[in-house]
Amino acid sequence: MSHSQSALSGAAVAAGLQTKRMGQPLHWFDQLTSTNDIAQAFAEAGAPEGTAVLAGEQTGGRGRLGRRWASPPGGLWLSVVLRPSPPATEWPRFGFAASVAATSAIEAVTQIPVRLKWPNDLIVEGRKLGGVLVEATGAYVVVGIGINVNVRRDLLPPEIRPVATSLLEWVGHPVDLVELTQEVLRALERYYQLVQDDPHAVLEQWKVRSVTLGRQVRVIDSAQAFEGVAESVDDQGALIVRTDTGLRRVFASDVSVREPQVPSLD
Ligand code: BTN
Repeated sequence: MSHSQSALSGAAVAAGLQTKRMGQPLHWFDQLTSTNDIAQAFAEAGAPEGTAVLAGEQTGGRGRLGRRWASPPGGLWLSVVLRPSPPATEWPRFGFAASVAATSAIEAVTQIPVRLKWPNDLIVEGRKLGGVLVEATGAYVVVGIGINVNVRRDLLPPEIRPVATSLLEWVGHPVDLVELTQEVLRALERYYQLVQDDPHAVLEQWKVRSVTLGRQVRVIDSAQAFEGVAESVDDQGALIVRTDTGLRRVFASDVSVREPQVPSLD
C-alpha cells in the first residue's frame, strides 16, 4: 500500500507494523520540541522498552555535540526507548545498531546506498542524509533517528545546505514516509536483538558501510585537535586513530574525513 507524505501519522504507521517491541506503543505528534525529550519523559514515567515517539516537525531538534538539528516537515523524526541489560557504559553500541538499521531500512525502501561516518552519520555521496542521537541514563537509553526524507534543500538552514542531502534529491519524488518509518522500526528491532546477541556482528556491518575507516581524519574537540588515520572502532564504540605519536581513542569529538574530493561534512 502506498501512502502520501501528508498521511504520516501514528495511526498510519501503527497499522500493519509487524514488530513485537519497537513502536509498541507509538506516540505521534504533529509538532514537538524534540522526540528525544518526549521519549525521555515517557521513559521517566515508566514507559516500556520499544515505546516510540514520532513527529511531523521538531522545533528544538538536537544533534550530537549540542548542535541544533533542523527538522522541518517531510523528515523522519523518531525516538525509541530502550531498556537494555548491559551497563550504561555500553550505550554507544545502540547507536551503531540504530545507524545500521536506518541504512538497511533506507536501502530496502529506496535502493539508495547509504554509508556511515563515525559514529552514526548517514551519508549519501559525501553528504549528510541523517544522524542518530543516543542519550543514556542508568535506567534507559533513548535512541533518536533523524532522516531528511522529503525535505527540500532550501528548507534547511543555509549553513548546512552545502553538506546536507535528502532522499527526495536522490529518488526524484517523495518517498513513502509511513513505509520507511515502519521499515526503520522493523530493522531496529532486528539490529537491537543482534547487538545484544552478538555486538561484533553489528560492528562488522557498520564497518562494511563506513566512510571513515582507512581514511585520513581530523579530530577536533574542546581539548584537542589532531590528524591521523582512522584504523578501527573498538567494543566501546571509540574510534581508534593512528597518529605520529601513537594510537588515540576518540569518543565524543568531531571527526572530519580528509579527502580532497569529499567536501567537509562538519
Ligand atoms: C547528529 O547527527 O548530530 C544526530 C542527529 C539526530 C537527530 C534526531 S531527529 C529525532 C531525534 N530527536 C532529536 O532532537 N534528535 C534526534
